[in-house]
Amino acid sequence: MPPTRIIIDTDPGIDDALALILAFASPELSVEAITTVAGNVAVSQATRNACLLLDVVGPHLRPSVAKGAAHPMTRPLRTAQHYHGEDGLGNLSRFKAEGGMLRYPEPQQLLSPQSAQALMIEQIGAAPGEIVLICIGPLTNLAMAIRTAPAEMAKVKEIIVMGGAIQAPGNVTPAAEFNVHTDPEAASLVFASGLPITLVPLDVTQRVLLTAELVDTLVRHVGSHVTQFVRDTTERLFGVEKEQTGRAATPLHDPLAIGAVIDPSLVTRRPFDVQVETGEGPAQGMTIADRRQVGGQWKRPPNLQVCMEVDAGRFVALFLERICRLPA
Ligand code: RIB
Ligand code: CA
Repeated sequence: MPPTRIIIDTDPGIDDALALILAFASPELSVEAITTVAGNVAVSQATRNACLLLDVVGPHLRPSVAKGAAHPMTRPLRTAQHYHGEDGLGNLSRFKAEGGMLRYPEPQQLLSPQSAQALMIEQIGAAPGEIVLICIGPLTNLAMAIRTAPAEMAKVKEIIVMGGAIQAPGNVTPAAEFNVHTDPEAASLVFASGLPITLVPLDVTQRVLLTAELVDTLVRHVGSHVTQFVRDTTERLFGVEKEQTGRAATPLHDPLAIGAVIDPSLVTRRPFDVQVETGEGPAQGMTIADRRQVGGQWKRPPNLQVCMEVDAGRFVALFLERICRLPA
């Protein structure tokens, strides 16, 4: 089977960085481009972080990197630096190599001259039925691309979205998941687009946990630059999680969206009509799936495939095995 051609739309973000590593380490995928969006951090920082990650995984892997939306469609940006650190990657400037140099120096990669939405439209339109778009940040870029060029975007093979919470509580409010809450208008436009969308919500991503013990074991037994990066970027986060939840463990939200493309059998999809709350109240950004057991004529037709089950052990094992493969 030829590799699946993917574009990753991302707001790195620690779990985004882990997702990018998984994607580059997986022969089933060909990363054609990375587009960045404001979310966990400002879009300039997210873009710099994506380029830094490319330096970590190796000089031979150089897809285009296109900078995207600097803020949600209609709202101010609310970042998650309390969780991901000021730099969005666990404050990596703390780490020094021999001789006192930065272990992770500033990246020098040249960016694509195109905007994220222009790159999405061009690459998807030029390869009908070929490209899988994996969105692991707020959906601002995707919403703007659909609004600008609906016919071109309709040529996408599939869209995988990490976002939402169906039966699970939210993570940024009791009702809402961060990516949808950051830009509910964008999510609402995307969900109503009629495009082939698979949602990977907190219901499944919160069941795939990376622990500090697992990371330490990787470093001890593999000791590569990539596994060292995984430990450095997660070290601060495990402290935050320990404080908040009592466990030094973090959900592999974004990596599971990548995993669902590597091996679709890892998740079980169910069709639902899913709506997004765009009001200003406590339910802002909530994703509401119509799970009523009534005949089709009594409710709206499904607009998404929603992953409601995951083979958590098999996915975590795949994740660990793959990140040990780099550098290839
Ligand atoms: O709710 C989890 C999502 O929000 C992940 O994509 C994480 O990176 C943050 O962006
Ligand atoms: Ca993300």
